[in-house]
Amino acid sequence: MTETLIVERRDAVTLVTLNRPKALNALNSQVLAELLEVTRAYDADAGQGCMVITGSEKAFAAGADIKEMQAQGFADMYSHDFFAGWDAFTRTRKPIIAAVAGYALGGGCELAMMCDFILAADTAKFGQPEIKLAVTPGMGGSQRLAHAVGKAKAMEMCLTGRMMDAAEAERAGLVSRVVPAGELVEEAVKTAATVAAMAPLAVKANKEMVNAAFDMGLTQGVQFERRLFHALFGTEDQNEGMAAFVEKRAGKWTGR
Ligand code: CAA
Repeated sequence: MTETLIVERRDAVTLVTLNRPKALNALNSQVLAELLEVTRAYDADAGQGCMVITGSEKAFAAGADIKEMQAQGFADMYSHDFFAGWDAFTRTRKPIIAAVAGYALGGGCELAMMCDFILAADTAKFGQPEIKLAVTPGMGGSQRLAHAVGKAKAMEMCLTGRMMDAAEAERAGLVSRVVPAGELVEEAVKTAATVAAMAPLAVKANKEMVNAAFDMGLTQGVQFERRLFHALFGTEDQNEGMAAFVEKRAGKWTGR
């Protein structure tokens, strides 16, 4: 538990709930600092295999904190490289699932897209409304949204500030699945528990190689995949996983 986050351990799943209800979970510097601290601890904890980040029923997060940014000028933003801290969040090596209900706007949509995949409640609404404030996305939204849903929808959303509902977000490939709002957190924790039960090195390798698809060309990406695949044949868990299959039993992982 920190001032802006509720952190719970559900066996091998870390459940983080953004907790600034009066500001609809607007993401200020304190949220970022606390989230980085919690995420680093999660990444270093061998007992934790997957993380879920969620918000409230009304808002996953309604954006970066406009009140924090309002009085800043170019020199402040540029000299402090405002938002650069979020890059550290994206370097987390273990998986993070965003469980989104209600508004995921601006930085909220961007945080959800920084996670490895998004499970959405049927109440979820995604948008990049920064243009209405006479600015642009600043936490990677223009890039990640364009990768996720293609140029046409990304451009329309950034230029008009229009929100996408859960059904459209699923059709567009922004979210992996839509579930009833009342079941969102339990479904996300259940999904995270499935991931957490896998061999830890294989989890990291799968995350790393899917993410590589966004930075590499096809030939280079396929080569990268193959090398990581080969590397896993040097692990105890690969021996165990294949032996367990042949012997018709569940594998027991050592993480080595
Ligand atoms: N920053 C700071 N405070 C915010 C906020 C934000 N992004 N979003 C909401 N709040 C605050 C409101 O100011 C309000 O506070 P007060 O009670 O003190 O007035 C409180 O949360 C509740 O909000 P509303 O009264 O506006 O609630 P609503 O139900 O009428 O509307 C909403 C909900 C449509 C989400 C509306 O709050 C809204 O449009 N929020 C701003 C969305 C936005 O522009 N996000 C982008 C921010 S910029 C950004 O994120 C840059 C980037 O690229 C990272």
